[in-house]
Amino acid sequence: MKIAITGTGMVGRTLAGFLSRAGHSVTVGTRNAIETMSRTDPNGKPGFKEWAVDFPNVPLKDYSEAAEGAEIIINATHGVKSIEALSTVGSANLDGKVLIDTANAFAYQEGAAPVLAVANTDSLGEQIQRQFPKARVVKTLNTVGAPFMVDPGRLPEGQPTIFVSGNDGDAKSQVIQILKDLFGWEDIVDLGDITTARGPEMFMSLWVRVWGAVKTPLFGFRLLK
Ligand SMILES: NC(=O)c1ccc[n+]([C@@H]2O[C@H](COP(=O)([O-])OP(=O)(O)OC[C@H]3O[C@@H](n4cnc5c(N)ncnc54)[C@H](OP(=O)(O)O)[C@@H]3O)[C@@H](O)[C@H]2O)c1
Repeated sequence: MKIAITGTGMVGRTLAGFLSRAGHSVTVGTRNAIETMSRTDPNGKPGFKEWAVDFPNVPLKDYSEAAEGAEIIINATHGVKSIEALSTVGSANLDGKVLIDTANAFAYQEGAAPVLAVANTDSLGEQIQRQFPKARVVKTLNTVGAPFMVDPGRLPEGQPTIFVSGNDGDAKSQVIQILKDLFGWEDIVDLGDITTARGPEMFMSLWVRVWGAVKTPLFGFRLLK
């Protein structure tokens, strides 16, 4: 498959690396490829250019160029900037495509838990679907830390539950197949249309507080019925 991933952070890198190693043709999109490749992290963490050394088959391109000809596009951008980033990708590259949205619209604030910039009566998934009505948006993977996305069985206690939301049944089936067959997810709950993305997005208010309490992002929640 030809897959474009918008986002050079932990999620973009995790998904791009895994999908590339699984034999897919992956391109990563960024605001400015030259600038991103020359950037050094102020906190001393490896930048995209250090990550890219291990993945010479994963080109980094500006958003619209990265998405050209992609069959599937994965949004892994900063949630409050996702509409802006996807607008740069452009409707022409999104129309008719499966658009997997992993983002959370967190507004970060110093010394306090992040707040959701969209909640209750709307969600980022819905905003993206409204902005790009011909894209086939499927919200998923936003409720787990990036390492779980491609390795859901990493904890001996078992896999977390993962959710999918979207209006297009075929797109959801395709994404569920990717979650199962490529990433290894077992407990997948189809919540319904894209308005149900409000649930997994608002769930993240709990997630960040659990992270604060257990001091590791490597935890998950399983649905028990
Ligand atoms: N980290 C996790 O474990 C995790 C888990 C689940 C969901 N998520 C969600 O997945 C998304 C990606 O998370 P992340 O941790 O990988 O990275 P992030 O730091 O949240 O986002 C980084 C990406 O956002 C892009 N971006 C586009 N426009 C931007 C702007 N105006 N200002 C700032 N950044 C902009 C950046 O572009 P450039 O490439 O140009 O810098 C970069 O590619 C987020 O929405 C996050 O909430 C994260």
